[in-house]
Amino acid sequence: MKIFDYMQKYDYEQLVFCQDETSGLKAIIAIHDTTLGPALGGTRMWMYNSEEEAIEDALRLSRGMTYKAAAAGLNLGGGKAVIIGDPRKDKSEELFRAFGRFVQGLNGRYITAEDVGTTVADMDLIYQETNYVTGVSPAFGSGGNPSPVTAYGVYRGMKAAVKRGFGHDDLSGKTIAVQGVGNVAYNLCRYLHEEGANLIVTDINTENVQRAVVDFGAKAVGVNEIFGVECDIFSPCALGAIINDDTIPQFKAKVIAGAANNQLKEERHGDIIQEMGIVYAPDYVINAGGVINVADELHGYNRERAMKKVETIYDNMNRVFEIADRDNIPTYKAADRMAEERIARLARSRKTFLRDPKASLPK
Ligand SMILES: NC(=O)c1ccc[n+]([C@@H]2O[C@H](COP(=O)([O-])OP(=O)(O)OC[C@H]3O[C@@H](n4cnc5c(N)ncnc54)[C@H](O)[C@@H]3O)[C@@H](O)[C@H]2O)c1
Repeated sequence: MKIFDYMQKYDYEQLVFCQDETSGLKAIIAIHDTTLGPALGGTRMWMYNSEEEAIEDALRLSRGMTYKAAAAGLNLGGGKAVIIGDPRKDKSEELFRAFGRFVQGLNGRYITAEDVGTTVADMDLIYQETNYVTGVSPAFGSGGNPSPVTAYGVYRGMKAAVKRGFGHDDLSGKTIAVQGVGNVAYNLCRYLHEEGANLIVTDINTENVQRAVVDFGAKAVGVNEIFGVECDIFSPCALGAIINDDTIPQFKAKVIAGAANNQLKEERHGDIIQEMGIVYAPDYVINAGGVINVADELHGYNRERAMKKVETIYDNMNRVFEIADRDNIPTYKAADRMAEERIARLARSRKTFLRDPKASLPK
């Protein structure tokens, strides 16, 4: 792999290799872009098949964070870390503390958080060595479980998408098919139920299905049935890549708006649903509540302030639709463009010299 060629292609700033023999730490921190502020992104612990795979994952995911933070209106850039190892066997106090010292060494250019394979307990260990970590225990000042906040953002984003699809943003009487009723979707369903929507749900976990049926009067269907049910809105809240060649022909919904990451299997699937006249709420714009929630910790967590910021996902979504119309492009492309334009605008506005370097810290 030609690392500098790869970094140049998407203009990555920095790639950091961290090695500590005593703890067995082998970690990679990728910093994609810090135009808007310090690079925020979780630490993933995974048994990569090769070093190249780990580097690619860190680079790819850090770039995704740049777009997510920029689109959410945060003063943060994009970063991501990966620790090469088995999260079930290779964790230790010394490993996460060694990693924490490397994060501290970046002096705030990178702020870490939980991701696949890491937990709140791991973040607490990192916190022993650095303040540049979010998602620690509530006792250390974190916002706790971000799912209810993410759910509120999805609800707000869904309303904006419904306005585009139906001309008004009222969800009462709308039928909404929800795939996966886990942490985020259970909270989302509460908002939808309170507004008078009819819910159809599915999940591989029957207890989760039952909970939605009992608490919100949802109708339960099989996991493969959910794509083709008669509904106004399809809300993917389980897995990625569920907008694909198999599911698209089944869709009856006018709007797709849900919490899941990476919903489009391939970009062309975003083009196809656009041609079908489906309003697609781009995943990283609508599910930004989680990142908004952890970003709030940087100022001493305040749930009310975090929720206020999450409300603006409605406006962010409207901006995506405006750009889609302005440039005649599908919404998934418009989301990227919105993020890139914000970064470019702020890069220009920051040419003014300031004596106080704190001006570039997130606010
Ligand atoms: N939790 C957050 O704050 C947050 C933030 C941003 C994005 N997301 C994304 O939102 C999605 C949901 O997150 P969550 O925290 O609620 O996770 P979760 O694990 O609590 O919920 C996912 C649910 O989907 C179900 N599921 C899994 N495979 C399924 C299948 N094939 N068919 C139907 N149901 C299936 C699971 O049983 C579970 O109930 C994920 O894609 C996640 O990456 C979550």
